[in-house]
Amino acid sequence: MSASIDKYRLVTQGNSSNPQVAEAYRTLRTNLYFASGNQEIRTLLVTSTLPNEGKSTTISNLAIAYAESDKKVLLIDADLRRPTLHQVFSASTRLGLSYLLTGQCKIEEAIIETFVPNLALITAGPPLPNPYGGISSPRFEELLEELKARYDIILIDSSPILAVSDAQLLSKRCDGVLYIVHYGKVKRALAQRAVAQLRHSGANLLGVVVNNKKKSKQDKVYSY
Ligand SMILES: Nc1ncnc2c1ncn2[C@@H]1O[C@H](COP(=O)(O)OP(=O)(O)O)[C@@H](O)[C@H]1O
Ligand SMILES: [Mg+2]
Repeated sequence: MSASIDKYRLVTQGNSSNPQVAEAYRTLRTNLYFASGNQEIRTLLVTSTLPNEGKSTTISNLAIAYAESDKKVLLIDADLRRPTLHQVFSASTRLGLSYLLTGQCKIEEAIIETFVPNLALITAGPPLPNPYGGISSPRFEELLEELKARYDIILIDSSPILAVSDAQLLSKRCDGVLYIVHYGKVKRALAQRAVAQLRHSGANLLGVVVNNKKKSKQDKVYSY
């Protein structure tokens, strides 16, 4: 595996050196199933209060956990401002979501098969001058419908809630939202404000992952 993959701590692969943490992501997958009233979620957004709380790390490992359960999984990097999933999976970002939204490429051209069986990726693509405009466009909704016909589950990485409105908007378009809180990094009041914003926009908040909580040596999910 390349250095970039190690940097983002992909632990869910079968040959992982950290089976305990890999198991935590499988548990997260199961907990999300229960949190959604035993329904299979088709579109899941992962977001957080601030940058660097572990959204991309969590969503990548969770996507692998879903792929391991024989689901056809698509990961979309909708953090158009600070995209990283192309680095996590060592993939090209020459074509991607931005180009799909502006009609500059076809779905088939933007989908990348990752080294994980059953896991495909759409990277963020080249930067857009107005990322919010792209995400709020009707094309995004059409695209999501087209992709839902091809995949069992679509996981969407996003920007942090308090930075820009992108994730709040995306949360309305997804069946469920998973909220990441980096333990010890975000003040309670800030996290509460972000969650209130999500609720205000009608998001279906399925759970909160407390990332980097050292005591338990595992990430935890609490249903909300
Ligand atoms: N539980 C963790 N323990 C140690 N490092 C972590 C953990 N979660 C994330 N990181 C690291 O923190 C950095 C930011 O994580 P990332 O997933 O890119 O955050 P975000 O997508 O929220 O901006 C990355 O270098 C990642 O490897
Ligand atoms: Mg990220």
